Amino acid sequence: MTYQISARKWRPQTFEEVVGQEQIARTLQNALSANRIAHAYLFCGMRGVGKTTMARIFAKALNCLNEPTKGPCNNCDMCHDITKGSSPDVIEIDGASNTSVDDVRELRQNVRYAPARGKYKVYIVDEVHMLSKSAFNAFLKTLEEPPPHTVFIFATTEPHKIPETIHSRCQTFVFKGCSKVDIAAQLNKIAKEDGITFEGQGIDIIANGAGGSMRDALVFFDQVVSYAGKNVSEEKVREVLGVAGMARISAIIDSVITGDVKGIVSHVREVEQEGVDLKNLSQDILHYLRNMTICKLTSEPGDLIGLDADLIESIKGQASGLDETAIQFMFQIMLKTDFDMKPSTLPTLVLEMGLIKMTQAASMVGIASIIEKMESVSGGDNGGGSVGAAVPVPKREAKPAAIKEDRGAKKSVAPPLDNLPMTSNQITNDGETVWLRVQEGVSNIRPRLGGVLEHAIFHSLTVDSLVIGFANDKEVAFYRGEIDSNMEIIDKVLSEVLGRKVTLAFKDVALPKTKKQNAPQGEESGKWKKEIVGEVLNHFPGVVASDS
Ligand SMILES: Nc1ncnc2c1ncn2[C@@H]1O[C@H](COP(=O)(O)OP(=O)(O)OP(=O)(O)O)[C@@H](O)[C@H]1O
Ligand SMILES: [Mg+2]
Ligand SMILES: [Zn+2]
Repeated sequence: MTYQISARKWRPQTFEEVVGQEQIARTLQNALSANRIAHAYLFCGMRGVGKTTMARIFAKALNCLNEPTKGPCNNCDMCHDITKGSSPDVIEIDGASNTSVDDVRELRQNVRYAPARGKYKVYIVDEVHMLSKSAFNAFLKTLEEPPPHTVFIFATTEPHKIPETIHSRCQTFVFKGCSKVDIAAQLNKIAKEDGITFEGQGIDIIANGAGGSMRDALVFFDQVVSYAGKNVSEEKVREVLGVAGMARISAIIDSVITGDVKGIVSHVREVEQEGVDLKNLSQDILHYLRNMTICKLTSEPGDLIGLDADLIESIKGQASGLDETAIQFMFQIMLKTDFDMKPSTLPTLVLEMGLIKMTQAASMVGIASIIEKMESVSGGDNGGGSVGAAVPVPKREAKPAAIKEDRGAKKSVAPPLDNLPMTSNQITNDGETVWLRVQEGVSNIRPRLGGVLEHAIFHSLTVDSLVIGFANDKEVAFYRGEIDSNMEIIDKVLSEVLGRKVTLAFKDVALPKTKKQNAPQGEESGKWKKEIVGEVLNHFPGVVASDS
C-alpha cells in the first residue's frame, strides 16, 4: 500500500470522529434529523481544525442513500463516491483559484441543474474570502434566489473579509482551535494504531507546537516519524521541531537570575547553533515564566502546569528566590522581546538584549514586599497598604559593610539610664534627655514611628508620666494619631529607659520648640530615614544610588 500522509489518512469520516467541534457536529446532526437544511452555511475558524472535513461529512450525510439522520453511513455508493471525490453532486471549489466572474458565472449556470443522483447538490467553497468583489456579487445573485436542493458550504479562515451581504445569508459556525489535550489524545491514538512509540514529552511538544491546528500537528507528526523511525525520543522531536529542551530554558533563566550576562549570550549562541528556532525559544521562555508565576502563587501548581514533579520543584526553587513583581516584570520584558523579534532581521540580538534587560527585572522587589518585611522586623502593622509599584534593588552589588555593622549595634532597645535622678526637679531637668532616648529606642523597633516622635516636644517628666506636646495644630493633626495608636510600644520603651513604669501623656497647648529639638532637627530627622534605608538594605541586598 502506498504511503499516505497522516492528515489525509486520518481525515475523520463521521461527525463523531471530528475532535473538539462537538457543538457544531450536534447542530448539523439536529438539522439533518429535523430535515431543516439551510441554503448556505459559513464555516469559519483557523487553519486545520476540521472545516473542510466537516463540510464533506455533512455533504455525505445529505446525500447518503441510507438516509441517515445522524450522519453518513460511509457504506453506500453515494458515500463512497463523495469520500473519493468523484460524486457529480458534491462540487468542491477552491476560492483561491476560482476568483474570476467567469468562474462564478459558469457556476451559476451549473447550479440550475438538479442533482444527478443524490438529493442535494452541495457546493463546498474553500477559502471563500479569496473571491474577488465581482465574484462575490455574482454569488450573491445565486444566494438571493437559491435553486431548490442546492446547499452552499463556504469555508474560510478570514470571515472578516467576506461581504456582509453574503454573511447575512449564511448560517455561520465558528470552529474552535483544537486544545493541546485534544491534539495529544489524537496523536496518541494515531501513534498506537500505526505502531509508533513516543518517549517522554514528545507528543506534548508536538501538540504544543501545533498552536491549535490539528493538521499542523499531523504534519509535525509525519516529519518526526520520518526522521526518527518508529521509536521516537523526546530529543528527536525537539530537533525536528527546533524546540529547545526544558533544561536549556531553565539554565537560561538561571543566568538571568544570577545576572550572568556571559552565560546568557553563550546559551543563545549554542541554542542557535543547535538549529533551534529562536522565536520558538522566546515563546517557550514566556511559558516558563508563566509557570514560574503559578509556582510562586500556588502551593499545588501540578495540574495548572502539566510538567513532571522534578521540573516543577526546580521551577519552584527558582521562583522562591524572586519577588512576584520581579517575575511579572521579566514576563513583560520577554513579551515585548518576543514581539520585537518577529519583524526584526536581527532576532538573535533582540533576544540577547531582552534577556540581559531581564537580569535587572529579576532583582526587583515590590514595595508591598518591602513593607511586609519591615513589618515583620518591627513586629507590627504600620498601616501600609499593598502597593503595585516596584523598586529595582541591584541584588549582586556588594553591600557596604558599615551599614551592616551599624545596624547590628542598634538592634536592641536603648538600655535604662542607671543614674537617672529621681527627685521631681531633677527629673524635669533631664526629661529632655529621657525623651531623646525614648525616640531612639522606638526608632530601633519601628523606625517610622521613631521619626514621628521626633516631631513631638518634651514638656515635663513626673514619677509616672512623661508629657509631650506639639508646636501647632497642624503637627497634632499629622502625628498625634500615629502616636496614639502605638502607645503600647512607646510606654514599653519609656518604662525600659527609666527602669520603672511610666506612661506617655499629652499637653494640649502649643509648645515652643526646645533648643535640643531645634538644633539637631535636620540630622535627627534624617536619622530615621537612614534607619529605614538600613533596614531595607538589611533584607534586600543592594546599595543606595542617591541619598537625596
Ligand atoms: N477537528 C479535527 N479532528 C480530527 N482531525 C482533524 C480535525 N481538524 C483537522 N483534522 C485533520 O487535519 C486535516 C485537515 O483538516 P481540514 O482540511 O478539515 O481543516 P480546515 O479547517 O479545512 O483547514 P484549512 O482552513 O487550512 O482549509 C484532516 O484531514 C484531519 O486529518
Ligand atoms: Mg479547508
Ligand atoms: Zn451512505
